[in-house]
Amino acid sequence: MYQVIARKYRPQRFEEVVGQAHVKLTIKNAIAQGRIAHAYIFSGPRGTGKTTMARILAMALNWEDGPSASPDPDSQVCKEIAAGSSLDVVEIDAASNRGIDSIRELRESVKFRPARDRYKVFIIDEAHQITNDAFNALLKTLEEPPSWTVFVLCTTEPQAIPATITSRCQSFAFQAVDQQEVVQHLDKICASEGVAADADALTAVALAGDGSVRDSLSTLDQAIAAFGKKLEAKGVRDLLGVIPSEGTGRILGAIRDGDPAAMLAVVDDLFQQGRNAQHFCGELTRQFRNLMVMKVAGHDTRLVSAGHAEREAAKDWIEAFSQDDLNRYVQILLSLYQDLQSSTHQRFRLEVGLLKLVHAGRLAPIEEVLSGLRKGVPLPPRVDAEARPPADAPSSSPTAAPSPGATEPAPARKAAAPASGFLGELVRSLQDAGNESLVDAVRACRVEREERVVTVQAPGDWFPILDLQKPVLEAAIAAVIGAKPDVRLVAAEPDRQAEQRPGGSSRNSGATSSGSDDDISTRALSDPAVQAFTKRFDGRVTNVVDLREKTQ
Ligand SMILES: Nc1ncnc2c1ncn2[C@@H]1O[C@H](COP(=O)(O)OP(=O)(O)OP(=O)(O)O)[C@@H](O)[C@H]1O
Ligand SMILES: [Mg+2]
Repeated sequence: MYQVIARKYRPQRFEEVVGQAHVKLTIKNAIAQGRIAHAYIFSGPRGTGKTTMARILAMALNWEDGPSASPDPDSQVCKEIAAGSSLDVVEIDAASNRGIDSIRELRESVKFRPARDRYKVFIIDEAHQITNDAFNALLKTLEEPPSWTVFVLCTTEPQAIPATITSRCQSFAFQAVDQQEVVQHLDKICASEGVAADADALTAVALAGDGSVRDSLSTLDQAIAAFGKKLEAKGVRDLLGVIPSEGTGRILGAIRDGDPAAMLAVVDDLFQQGRNAQHFCGELTRQFRNLMVMKVAGHDTRLVSAGHAEREAAKDWIEAFSQDDLNRYVQILLSLYQDLQSSTHQRFRLEVGLLKLVHAGRLAPIEEVLSGLRKGVPLPPRVDAEARPPADAPSSSPTAAPSPGATEPAPARKAAAPASGFLGELVRSLQDAGNESLVDAVRACRVEREERVVTVQAPGDWFPILDLQKPVLEAAIAAVIGAKPDVRLVAAEPDRQAEQRPGGSSRNSGATSSGSDDDISTRALSDPAVQAFTKRFDGRVTNVVDLREKTQ
């Protein structure tokens, strides 16, 4: 009968366990010195060898010629333990035996000597599932067990095990296995299975396993089922939904060139291929994080889990961007990833998030800008304030306040109140066309119509989206008004811009009201340095204080 690879290749000796060097060494030494503890906790991520190591420990203790750190896997005792049929090695799944009754049974069975072998070994899997009462019932047994018992508690959540238990056990923390070691392990298994796999294909499999050997082996099984005895990187990546390095290259190119259209084309391709937006974003975040780490620690650093192709492709990109840039991109992607977890409009979110990357562009470091201001040196071109999404975009309400008159203020997007009049018809037309993303965008705008002229005032974060989808918007409006419209898309002016001009009296609210203070404010606001500063940072002066007065 077919046996899955993960079971077929379960290690039978300490040496065969991949990684976990510290655990192997300590346990082997303990066995050699006869210092066997009565209770161990093996904690760590799923599929990293906890149960496997517990079984090998049981073999080491109970092997006919043992105890020994090198038991013979072909001996009768070891074969029984591997097959799970040994009477003296009891595996308990705490997920289904978590209550007090099961633990009472366990306590009873502890009292009896081993049926045949040296030790009675209890391997408790998923130990964190045991209830508090049941743990309490176990305390005494763990503290003063009969000399022939050894407990191994395996868990992925060590923090869920009460301190009263952990303090009675020796703890071993298993680590996620290094990607290169997983690749070597996969390589050996492919060789014995007669599978020809290229190195990048195995790297993609190992990356998908994210440090879990079991997950990597299950993925390998899946890849062999799909492609047979020949595994190539492209096919495996497609199967796993991994973005090939060309995909990341296109995204980085769009950021470097400040090209939002190229970025949207990537998203379009992605959805055409039926890829999952969140998975894509997670993978992209990983790759950008890798670039950031390579920028700091060199492109061959071991701190990064990346295949050969990804490392080679990274060389140019880490030259092209500063550490600050990469850091900023990773932050944007992390928040996009979170957004995607809760958003129903996956495509739209992804578009907005990736456009943010374009607009975050390559910003000049603040020190450079400040020193430029000081020296009067011309500043590098900056991203237009209107086009740059604000930090809290895109879920913020529109910034444009509705003005009285023939306008139709859109309801805040969150409220999603049914819109009426022209806006309502436009929304319905877009909904009919199945264009939910534009519905959201239009709802965030102020829309005015005079005959064929339709003015759409879009807050900064929506503007680029609407701008790129203007033809679609025009078609939807044409369907409503029955004529070709003249659509005027304008970036909504934050009200404060009008107020920040030098001399704009309302801005000086914090200044005292005497005539001379007004004079000071006017002088301060018309100072070229102050003007350059406010213009550069799209800012405003809220208060002018006369320091001479303060120091008196
Ligand atoms: N460190 C490792 N070296 C080699 N193979 C491993 C390793 N870890 C896991 N495996 C493979 O994965 C399979 C499952 O491993 P094991 O049951 O030991 O994982 P675990 O850490 O107990 O996971 P879980 O927390 O999910 O119970 C094994 O049969 C083996 O093929
Ligand atoms: Mg296990």
